[in-house]
Amino acid sequence: MKLKIAIFEPKISELKKVQSFLTSSTYDVEVFRASNVDAATKIINEQNHFHFIFLNVRMSPYQKINTHFIQTVLARFSDQKFILLYSKEEHKDVSELTNVLVDQLDYDPWMELPFKPLQFFKVLEQSISELSKFVRSDSRSQYTSIKAVELLALKTSPCDVFIKLGDEKYVKVFNSFDPFDATFFEKYKVKGVRSFFVERACFNKHFNDFFPPQLVARDSFNSDEEYALGAQKALFGVVAEFGISEDVVETATELAEEAVDILEKNNLTSMLALLKNGKDSFIYDHSFLLSLICLETAKKFKWYSSKHNRIICLSSLLHDASLTDPRFHSIELGGLSKLENCSKEEQVAFKDHPLEIANELKRIMDIPSDVIGLVLKHHEGFGTDKSFPYGHYSQQLSALECIFVMSHEIVLIFYRNLFHPDKIEHALLQYWEELHKGNFRKYIKELQEVVESILTALKGEA
Ligand SMILES: [Fe+2]
Ligand SMILES: [Fe+2]
Repeated sequence: MKLKIAIFEPKISELKKVQSFLTSSTYDVEVFRASNVDAATKIINEQNHFHFIFLNVRMSPYQKINTHFIQTVLARFSDQKFILLYSKEEHKDVSELTNVLVDQLDYDPWMELPFKPLQFFKVLEQSISELSKFVRSDSRSQYTSIKAVELLALKTSPCDVFIKLGDEKYVKVFNSFDPFDATFFEKYKVKGVRSFFVERACFNKHFNDFFPPQLVARDSFNSDEEYALGAQKALFGVVAEFGISEDVVETATELAEEAVDILEKNNLTSMLALLKNGKDSFIYDHSFLLSLICLETAKKFKWYSSKHNRIICLSSLLHDASLTDPRFHSIELGGLSKLENCSKEEQVAFKDHPLEIANELKRIMDIPSDVIGLVLKHHEGFGTDKSFPYGHYSQQLSALECIFVMSHEIVLIFYRNLFHPDKIEHALLQYWEELHKGNFRKYIKELQEVVESILTALKGEA
């Protein structure tokens, strides 16, 4: 039997922390988590019962105390146990809320942030009768798991790190306080290791050291390139978990497989090699991130329907499949100015890459014509000198083509700025300006919302 616990907490780093603590505890816990009011409302509408609810009093899209939302949750789950989290600066606002809401409870529900696991467990033990029913069968193991993506955020681990080889067989792979480097994770990723283990006692003691607010420790990497690779990997972990809705990640993951299948069935071997062997490469990863951002944005429009899922994901994964020459990858990332040092032939070959893949796809029966349009026009929309192969303006693009082009550029801005949220925000100021022309401006607001949620996740806050 599982202990059902909801965590409604806008700060991603806190949310991760509470979730990790609960899932590594000796109790069998099912965690329902949300970092914004919309996602939290969906959860409370779908679930009838929680054993415990953590609710941050700043649970709102605008980071202000949201009395209405808190009242809704309290009314709907009035017979269940709550902890209301707050930080010291918010105490005044919190006191005002107290009068309205907390009078109806027969215990003191306030708990100050940052989250203190031991204090929480004390409350849990006091408020849930027969807590022992929820103790996990494997709770006597002296190890607890920690995800690779969580270790990636650290310069070093405060505890020795192990991998699991058998039922109770653990092997130490890393000494506490030795510095991590990116190759450590690469080595184990290749072997299919996704989770590492630390001793439970050490984990509990150093709990707060395991969850720093930043996404990736810059100091762990020797160069910007290594850091970008680490940040990109961490980004996929965080985006998948917090920045982009789960159904979008699922859809994109499934359809990415279909894109690979299409190349395989049609014997497009060099393109297939680019995608199949290129996982963790710029071409594969920027294509996958494009599918997430474009899909999440398109979903915000009335004209969106599920048929767009396949169109967007196939186009994203295939849009650069003709860039089999690795010299062109840095031009795709850096933009047309990088072409200046290339020969005339190279310039033509690069500018034709959308045509090349579109022509291949035209010969494949079951490819929707919209996919061919998106692939063909992914570098269009800014007129003669800045767009290719046709030099179109945004007025000549459909709604979906506009969103695809805009999402593609956003992805490139993430890469050019090494996934550093402040640098990305700075670069975006100029990009949003450029988009305030022609058809692009009709889609800015929705795209900005999606980018905001990713940046929020990158910063580890809301
Ligand atoms: Fe691209
Ligand atoms: Fe491209």
